[in-house]
Amino acid sequence: MILEDDVLHSLCSAGNVVALTGAGISAESGVPTFRGADGLWSKLKPEELANFDAFLRNPELVSEWYKHRREVTRVVKPNAAHYALVEMEKIYPHFTLITQNIDNLHRRAGSVNVAELHGNIERNYCLGCGKRYDGKDLDDNSPFRCSKCGGLIRPDIVWFGEMLPLDQWEIAEKASENADVMYVIGTSAVVYPAAQLPMAVKRNGGAVIEVNIEETPVTEFADASFHGPASEILTQIVEKIKEKISEEPK
Ligand code: OAD
Ligand code: ZN
Repeated sequence: MILEDDVLHSLCSAGNVVALTGAGISAESGVPTFRGADGLWSKLKPEELANFDAFLRNPELVSEWYKHRREVTRVVKPNAAHYALVEMEKIYPHFTLITQNIDNLHRRAGSVNVAELHGNIERNYCLGCGKRYDGKDLDDNSPFRCSKCGGLIRPDIVWFGEMLPLDQWEIAEKASENADVMYVIGTSAVVYPAAQLPMAVKRNGGAVIEVNIEETPVTEFADASFHGPASEILTQIVEKIKEKISEEPK
């Protein structure tokens, strides 16, 4: 990986920094992505599972599917890319991690300032009374009914056709508008409104640094694109930033 001096300089001098992550950052942990040959959506039709009507039509099927996904995400571990972003949060004065992932791996790695645009698979709530079922609260052996009112328990994630959680979106939008640098990592950048955030950074004079194994619509306007596995590239970027900062006169 070649990190040009001027790019490294802008990465080191940035005060407001944002990272936008997608399924690709968790691929090396063993969580399948959505698009591409092995992607989830090549095997399953999103309209049959990831929307509210599908849930009401067949709550058992949809609940089983999310139970399965919880089982997958609980056994896997955060990888070096997740940990590199934990380091970045320590390096930069203002760092916001915006994720489209619901797998909870950023929080498990230790990231704190995280905006979860599409929710989190470890959070659930009852449609009847709103009672929350977080983490292990949800008894995966029960028929996913609320112990208080008997209502259906749904995952607190964004399904097709649903709005993003407004508070998380506002954090993401504001951080992007103020960003000196945004790292765009492991996302195909085709799902809106998340995909418009890198453009908001550019529009406001910030730099966009892409990390992905392949080209995406972001590549065209990114200030630098690093094509390779996020774990390797992010580890190297963090190392170089630390090295450069330690060389600078105090
Ligand atoms: P995608 O599956 O669309 O894209 C994953 C991206 O990660 C692709 O661009 C891959 O090239 C890249 N990639 C794969 N392995 C990688 C690696 N080891 N290192 C770096 N990059 C890698 O996933 P998202 O962009 O996250 O929404 O998809 C966005 C949204 O679409 C998801 O949040 C989900 C889905 O519909 C909802 O469920 C609401
Ligand atoms: Zn209830």
